[in-house]
Amino acid sequence: MPIVTWSEEYDVNVEKIDKQHRHLLQLVNDLHAAVEACIDKNKLRKMLIELTEFTRTHFATEEQLMIKHDYPEKNAHQKEHKMLLRHLGDLVTAVSNGKYPTFYSDYDVSTDWALVHINEYDKPLGDFLNQVG
Ligand SMILES: [Fe+2]
Ligand SMILES: [Fe+2]
Repeated sequence: MPIVTWSEEYDVNVEKIDKQHRHLLQLVNDLHAAVEACIDKNKLRKMLIELTEFTRTHFATEEQLMIKHDYPEKNAHQKEHKMLLRHLGDLVTAVSNGKYPTFYSDYDVSTDWALVHINEYDKPLGDFLNQVG
């Protein structure tokens, strides 16, 4: 998946979430560019850790909102967050063990996980929050 620039179609219309999504996409794009440029493994590992930590913070933001507003799809959404964090954790482990990630493989670092998640999970959450808020 090529580097993706933010577009309004990804907005979920909740300011805090959209702001974090823009930053998240930027980090994913940076990582994509870094892998294409075959940057040093240690630098890549640091970038991956930064992405993982920010993703964790972002998911916690969404989950707090889900709990606060008693979001009916909370469990399915949280499960998806856990799965994505596990994938990122596996990537960090793989790189720490000397592997170099590629695209569309077990060590996939493509951008589509973020966009697919935003479209399939975060948009319905945004719609819900706008209805209740
Ligand atoms: Fe989410
Ligand atoms: Fe999100």
